[in-house]
Amino acid sequence: MAVALTILTDPRGTDARRELALPPATSILAAAHAAGIDVTATCGGRGRCTSCRVKFVAGAVPPPTIGDEVQLGDALVREGYRLACQCQPTEAVTVQVAPPLEETSFQILGAGAGVAGRVRIDSGVDKQLLKISLPHEEHHQTSDLEELAAAVGIAAADVPAGVLAGLPQALRDDPAGVTVTSFAGRILAVERGDTTSMRFGLAIDVGTTSVVTTLLELTSGEQLASVSSLNPQAVFGADLMSRIAFAQFNPGNLRKLRTRILGLLNQHVAEVCRASGVLPKWVYKVVVVGNTCMHHVLLGIDPSHVGLAPYAPVMRHALTLAAHELFLKIAPEARVCFLPIVAGFVGADAVAVALATHLDEGDALRMAVDIGTNGEVLLGSSARLIACSAPAGPAFEGGQIRHGMRGAHGAIDRVTVDDDVRVHTIGEADPLGICGSGLLDLVAGLLDAGAIDWTGLIQVEGRDALPPALRDRVVMRGEERQVVVLRPGEAGAGREIVLTQDDVRQLQLAKGAIASGIAMLQHVAGVAAERVAELLLAGGFGNYLSIASAVRIGLIPDLGAGRVRYVGNAASLGAQLCLLSEPERARADALARRIEHVSLAAHPDFEQIFVDCMNFPRP
Ligand code: FES
Repeated sequence: MAVALTILTDPRGTDARRELALPPATSILAAAHAAGIDVTATCGGRGRCTSCRVKFVAGAVPPPTIGDEVQLGDALVREGYRLACQCQPTEAVTVQVAPPLEETSFQILGAGAGVAGRVRIDSGVDKQLLKISLPHEEHHQTSDLEELAAAVGIAAADVPAGVLAGLPQALRDDPAGVTVTSFAGRILAVERGDTTSMRFGLAIDVGTTSVVTTLLELTSGEQLASVSSLNPQAVFGADLMSRIAFAQFNPGNLRKLRTRILGLLNQHVAEVCRASGVLPKWVYKVVVVGNTCMHHVLLGIDPSHVGLAPYAPVMRHALTLAAHELFLKIAPEARVCFLPIVAGFVGADAVAVALATHLDEGDALRMAVDIGTNGEVLLGSSARLIACSAPAGPAFEGGQIRHGMRGAHGAIDRVTVDDDVRVHTIGEADPLGICGSGLLDLVAGLLDAGAIDWTGLIQVEGRDALPPALRDRVVMRGEERQVVVLRPGEAGAGREIVLTQDDVRQLQLAKGAIASGIAMLQHVAGVAAERVAELLLAGGFGNYLSIASAVRIGLIPDLGAGRVRYVGNAASLGAQLCLLSEPERARADALARRIEHVSLAAHPDFEQIFVDCMNFPRP
């Protein structure tokens, strides 16, 4: 029989609440999601993070599961916290959605400095001011549409129905004539008067974790506004596999994912237009890049088989749709261009990175590493271009780390380890948790100090060799090895912030995924690191990490000074190039056909390479 479940939905503690009937054998998380209540499930409900934690405020608190004990720890369990995904109450209870860590001012890498000046502008969006002769006698057998089509020089049947609604007024309202906007021989809009100078477009990068939308003027290439947000699908799982599992063979859940991202894109349209004073109806072209799963979900395509061997995408070619088909609130007939895909886990974002970095040009071998929840590695020159996916998971974003958080206000983003641990936080605020770049610095510093060994083991037994202040931070609590990064009160911390043995393992898995992607491509191409002329670090996280720490933990190879370079949000820059230049969009097509996908899991040497890459380099 169903039991009454009350969820206090506002983590700040206001009275907002929802009353639900919880069916038998249903978790609090499943019931909350079914009712449309946002409870973040970073690990997709597998009991491997703490994001779904709720606090019991009334009713019997169920005994903790192993997941509760491992993830939440004794203190939180005693305070009545449980993981919503693991908890199936059998009697009436009231739970409070836990306050998330303070995650304002995310460090999501925006659109970059823009691409104006890097390309000859030829967006394909054409506007002309025309005076159309209107039907003026009854026996004159013609129509508004035929006159318009004749003036533009196309067949009436090729004018989309969407532009007809406002056609009679547009043709008659302004003596100056009408402005006809077209793209690739197709009329997109007919507007009264002269609007020839109003020509805008959007470049959209839909990542697993973050989404970046940039508004550009299509004649000058000027970047007018850019906005970035966390992908709102993340409440249904932080990584791609969790997201695919959520939608797998479940059209209702696929619809939820799609609605979330489409809703966010319309918010972004409203924001960039407001910020720049551009009317949405003047946006005529959009270029979208994203990984294969994001691409499919955005189009409403079932991604189930992308998550099942042999991980085939449903489609790979470039696709262009009308904005109204995606419910985008811009000119209804605006062209929304999806760049092509390479494989199930190497998507249009990788194509955009290759395009923006010109990896396929020149004789020198160069490598681009897009570090994200679903990372990608590309290696190439004019002779050959190969790519693989490197699913790092959410550890670099602070996911599945005991006191991890995203790069937001209060996150420890820099750490120095000498005779003690010293931290810096984003916004110089009181520390709330530790983000990816801080985690890298911390582990790199602890490796150098000897507090962690090359296998990743926290050296409790050998701690006496450490300087006293550092030694006191290396502790064994129950069965768990920990490094106490901050004690309550230290550097303004409101609570203890620790690095656990499991956190180190999560980091090893994440860095192992990227490092083995790099190693595999070198292996397949038969080149040693010395032959890689340059390594380009791209992506939201890539631009914030310390190169020295990344090398120290073995995330990237040690190529020597000056050969590793940050290139910003290369996927977004690639989308901007295609927005401003049709030849660049054609180049993306050619690139997608040229990129050879290397499937890591299928390669006989991968397992050994991955195991090697999990370890840290010996000093
Ligand atoms: S532990 Fe519940 S969603 Fe991760």
